[in-house]
Amino acid sequence: MRSRRLLTVVAALAGLVLTGGTASSAVSSHSDFRPPADSLRALAAPIGLRLGTAAVPSELAAYGQIIGDQFSVVTPGNEMKWQLVEPTQGTYDWSGGDNLIAFARAHDQLVRGHTLAWHNQLPTWLTDGVTNGTISDEQLRALLHKHVTDEVTHFRGKIWQWDVANEFFTDSTPSQLNPNDFWVRHLGPGILEDVFRWARAADPHAILCYNDYNIAGEDGSNAKADAVYAWAKQALAHRVPLDCIGDQGHLDTQYGFSGPLMQQDLQRYADLGLKVAITEADVRTFVNNATDNVPTDHLAVFAQPFEYDQMLKACLFVRQCLSFTIWGLTDASSWIPAVFAGEGYALIYDVNLNPKPAYTVLQQDLRLANGSAPRRPGTGH
Ligand code: XIL
Repeated sequence: MRSRRLLTVVAALAGLVLTGGTASSAVSSHSDFRPPADSLRALAAPIGLRLGTAAVPSELAAYGQIIGDQFSVVTPGNEMKWQLVEPTQGTYDWSGGDNLIAFARAHDQLVRGHTLAWHNQLPTWLTDGVTNGTISDEQLRALLHKHVTDEVTHFRGKIWQWDVANEFFTDSTPSQLNPNDFWVRHLGPGILEDVFRWARAADPHAILCYNDYNIAGEDGSNAKADAVYAWAKQALAHRVPLDCIGDQGHLDTQYGFSGPLMQQDLQRYADLGLKVAITEADVRTFVNNATDNVPTDHLAVFAQPFEYDQMLKACLFVRQCLSFTIWGLTDASSWIPAVFAGEGYALIYDVNLNPKPAYTVLQQDLRLANGSAPRRPGTGH
């Protein structure tokens, strides 16, 4: 028993060193911060996995203690998107990202940068200019190049993983690189490769990810997973500096979900030599109202933590799955009710900031992943 414990401690220390080592090649996080021993981040540390959350400034201010205690990587919910960093052409506002990075430093966390090339949350000066013809496609390409270069340069050395490109594939069956995507329509399909080259040139050490939803079999069909897999394989053959695939992991209890399929799909990306990450996990369901977030179907109270459990296990089983990030902390401030009418209850803390069953399930999974199930006695009497 004693030697088993010692082994566990040694393994834990090795894991910590490994995590720190992986991180310090790209970014450093120095602080004396010590998370609680039973926190998600502490339980994930021995196997080198990082548990993460997304946060906007008001959430950092209101829930900073939990965010610091429980998570070892943070993502800005909005503050690194083009609309927020360059609201007026030529005038940058990096304050949201800089503040998150300062918070992360103080709490010994890494940062996922999100996101450089996306069709959503673009500044109106840019979209208006394209619509009214004052910005030509050639100028648009130069503007995107400048945006990627300036943003990655500003945050160079401080970002662990960048979501370089977000949501470029269609939801159809079969899926394909979306010809109607804002960037593809104006700049051609090669733009998805170029943004990675530009990002690498500006920060040679950050892990560069392609990020999307429903690309690990969430809909059961694997259509989008197949398309992203084929693209990633081709991009690597073209020597594109693609390091990682981020699967957002937005689930809804009204649809089916297969954890083993997600595991297979993550492993398939990993077998290309890529790292993988769950980047925006949440599991929504129908609720009584957007304030209280009480599920209307009592079985959803069981389905919701089950899907979290299956998603985390899919990541745990894949060695190259580096981080598991949840898109927010509490149901009180999730993006879900504003976007999916009638739905909520998507996160792991309730509206009163109490940990939900999903929290407990993740904690149990991480404990087991540490090899902490007690060993059975032998077969004798
Ligand atoms: C969401 C934010 O959480 C909201 O605050 C914002 O209004 C819209 O965007 N996929 C993504 C994220 O990649 O950037 C989105 O974040 C959620 C879906």
